[in-house]
Amino acid sequence: MTTTAESTTELLGLFPPGSRVDPDGELVVGGCRLAGLAAEWGTPLYVIDEAAVRAHVRRVRRALGAAWPDSRMVFASKAFPVTAMYRLMAEEGIGVDVAGAGELAMALAGGVDPARIIVHGNAKTPAELRMALHARAGLIVIDNTDDIEALEELADGEQPVLLRVLPGVRPDTYDAVATGQAGSKFGLPLPAARAAIARLRRSRKLRLDGLHVHIGSQILSAEPFAHAVEAIAGLGEFRTYDLGGGLGVRYTYADCPPSPEDWIGALAGAARQVLPSGAELIIEPGRSLVAPFGVTVYRVVSVKGDDPRFVAVDGGMADNMEVALYGQRFEATVTSRVGGGSRVELVGRHCESGDRLVSGVALRDARPGDLVAVPVTGAYCVTMANNYNGALRPPVLFARDGQSRLVVRRETLADLMSRDVPPA
Ligand code: LLP
Repeated sequence: MTTTAESTTELLGLFPPGSRVDPDGELVVGGCRLAGLAAEWGTPLYVIDEAAVRAHVRRVRRALGAAWPDSRMVFASKAFPVTAMYRLMAEEGIGVDVAGAGELAMALAGGVDPARIIVHGNAKTPAELRMALHARAGLIVIDNTDDIEALEELADGEQPVLLRVLPGVRPDTYDAVATGQAGSKFGLPLPAARAAIARLRRSRKLRLDGLHVHIGSQILSAEPFAHAVEAIAGLGEFRTYDLGGGLGVRYTYADCPPSPEDWIGALAGAARQVLPSGAELIIEPGRSLVAPFGVTVYRVVSVKGDDPRFVAVDGGMADNMEVALYGQRFEATVTSRVGGGSRVELVGRHCESGDRLVSGVALRDARPGDLVAVPVTGAYCVTMANNYNGALRPPVLFARDGQSRLVVRRETLADLMSRDVPPA
């Protein structure tokens, strides 16, 4: 085992801003001692620093408004589909993007103004389209010609739409979350987009407001975003351009994503060059609005071996699919001994070898009963939580300035079996 150089300060830099270590050594997030939250709510536990999310949303809004005044921002809600988060975003004055009836229902339940909802999906069912029309969703994003036919049939009055264009841009990210390259299942490539635009312009019901592009997720450089804007500029002049989300975040010490200001600067810079000056710009970030402000807290159940040393916790790939699906690397710490330590294999409790939360992470003297916190779990972890091995999905707490509130309760065994039809 090697001893690592990462200092407490470096490690704290991956936790939400304002996270600190109390004089007795215990980690504090959102003003709340994680040990206290774990004692009250059990583990695994998702904790979101609510004040930090709100401050960040405001920062991104400000940056967007400064770079392109005729603009708006929506939250790609798949990154954290929980009613309280929809409410938070609505309170912060931004809209949401939804993909599917479930997200639409949560957005409406969270009090999002339907006019600020953008409906996505490459396989929207007629029932979902009906629901979106009935809710009077502000924009529906056409992904394919079947969407056009279905909406022509289902819409009563005029429905504003965007057309999703496949720009042919492959950002440097995981294959599984790249969406802008030739061959992607999302949107229409340029020639097909031209035909769809001509068709939509003839439509009596569908009002084509503009174009949409989204090239992928966890993108760590600004250039591909600009290339996507350039790629769609030749399709004609439109009122609205939704330039998608995709800005990456810092999961590990090595990651160095563009700031929101740099990202928006790249989008607006390209837009100034190639889009109509009177156009409205929309951005729809998901991950970058929430990932850095979430932490998962686990309890260590067992520790075995020396080389490798396995530290096994009471969660894993049932509450964090990012590792098993994409190979995303995280960092971690014992909450009462923050920073430093020796390299261990931090593993989950599920029956798969791939259930390794963090391979080779430095933990200081982890013992059964200790709490371990994994930072930067605020995006897509709640989203993809599952019941592998009968795992009960963890509760979600919003922590804010030393106060916490439960926004999703822990799943129970009764919940787990609630859809099973009892054997006769
Ligand atoms: N807009 C559209 C149309 C999208 O499909 C997505 C994400 C976003 C915006 C937001 O992208 P973001 O800013 O979050 O990168 N399950 C994967 C992430 C898949 C992202 C899918 N689309 C994960 O766990 O990493």
